[in-house]
Amino acid sequence: MDHSDGQFPHTRLRRLRYNPAVRRLIAETQLDTRRLVLPLFVRPGSCVRQPIASMPGHAQLSPDLAAEEACEAVQLGLGGVILFGIPEHKDAVGSDAMCDGGVVQQALRAIKAAAPELLTITDVCCCEYTDHGHCGVVTDRAGRRDVDNDATLELLARQAVSHAQAGADMIAPSGMMDGMVGAIRRGLDAAGFGHLPIMSYAAKYASAFYGPFREAAESAPQFGDRRTYQMDPAAAAGQAIREVTLDLAEGADLIMVKPALAYLDIIRQVRDAFPGVPLAAYNVSGEYSMVHAAAERGWLDLRATAMESLTAIHRAGAGIILTYWAKDVAVWLRE
Ligand code: PBG
Repeated sequence: MDHSDGQFPHTRLRRLRYNPAVRRLIAETQLDTRRLVLPLFVRPGSCVRQPIASMPGHAQLSPDLAAEEACEAVQLGLGGVILFGIPEHKDAVGSDAMCDGGVVQQALRAIKAAAPELLTITDVCCCEYTDHGHCGVVTDRAGRRDVDNDATLELLARQAVSHAQAGADMIAPSGMMDGMVGAIRRGLDAAGFGHLPIMSYAAKYASAFYGPFREAAESAPQFGDRRTYQMDPAAAAGQAIREVTLDLAEGADLIMVKPALAYLDIIRQVRDAFPGVPLAAYNVSGEYSMVHAAAERGWLDLRATAMESLTAIHRAGAGIILTYWAKDVAVWLRE
């Protein structure tokens, strides 16, 4: 038989697809509820549930309601939650993020009291806490306002330590500052948290897909954009490999690629280059909202599109997925 071409009719790939049981037998990508992380937005107060218009099903929650959500996450068997804080007062350096009475710290205590076994991850960054909305300290150099990398590192380390003291199980720096992982590692170690892992947003792109999140977290930059620190979507994929290499050298324990759907090639390349490193992907707000918007118009089937998106992200190589669909998927997988 000629193996170069003309294999039909000996080879019929549809034989593997006729029978649903065979399809199930040979399927190699299976989503797992235990590896999904649910993002939560927390704000001060009690009994506050402030819906996020662009993210149906999600709301800013006060610590008491975040704790209820945490209990639900445990019941559903989710891998964990990641917390984003929206403070009462924002200032130039994001003080709320570093103080013991801060909103994330309050939420951590409430969650730990209600669901001690739930993995709690905190996003460590300045943009939700600063009045200018940038991910660090802004300085003016020769008429050019930009985030001062090295001045920001110390703030990030202080945030991480404060989160750890309030009960965080894992720290996830998302600001794309050079040296952030090393600075946080040193800060945690010095404060007695040498055992806490760091999940670095290592390859995080300057993406339009974060739009709804910035409404949710009230964190849109008040001037300029994030292109001097987040990665350029058009840069060589090797830049992502360099980012991951550096973060690992600084002590990152887990690595993240973000966003997910438009960056499946990056997920795959990072997976292949670092096979032993736990890899997460962030299925970001815009990826969630656009499916919801299309489904509302009857243009897409919400559940099928969500499951296909997450399956593709998993198949590309992300073992862990941060997704606003975490609770829905847990329910769908049980059915
Ligand atoms: C904070 C941060 C952002 C997201 C996660 N952490 C926003 C940003 O970088 O502007 C986006 C998450 C999402 O869109 O779901 N730096």
